[in-house]
Amino acid sequence: MRKILLIHGPNLNLLGEREVETYGSRTLSQINEMIKKRAKKLGCEVRIKQSNNEGEIVSFIGEAKDWADALIINPAAYTHTSLAIRDAISAIGIPAVEVHLSNIFKRESFRQKSLTAGVCVGQITGFGPQSYLLALEAVMNILGEGKNADRKAAS
Ligand code: DQA
Repeated sequence: MRKILLIHGPNLNLLGEREVETYGSRTLSQINEMIKKRAKKLGCEVRIKQSNNEGEIVSFIGEAKDWADALIINPAAYTHTSLAIRDAISAIGIPAVEVHLSNIFKRESFRQKSLTAGVCVGQITGFGPQSYLLALEAVMNILGEGKNADRKAAS
């Protein structure tokens, strides 16, 4: 069974009460339930972590090298600032997909730049909690296990 590490970055623990007009009213634990349900359906194991700390996120990514087949990450505000998280993703050499609830390209100019997307296979942005479900499907396809597995990611 394929193993996927999913990381939620800073302030995503506040979902449901934080800027609901932008991020919606679902809490992080409700979103995690949706993710686990979809993972079960797709036949993969997903381990979910959240941290508000850049160094801890770097460590989570480094530890994934030994067991995960793919990484899904919403680096939240660190998307726009963290070279350390970018380097960690690049260092482990497993396929990664970047996720955002909001469409970062519709927002302030400082959010329209991602330091991390360039070391990911791709980015899914703007579909609310569904962004995570789309990312799960994407990584399963990348790993050759999804229903569109014959369609290789464009390089
Ligand atoms: C976010 C977008 C980021 O710009 C922001 O800092 C977040 C959440 C999103 O999921 O839409 O915290 O990553």
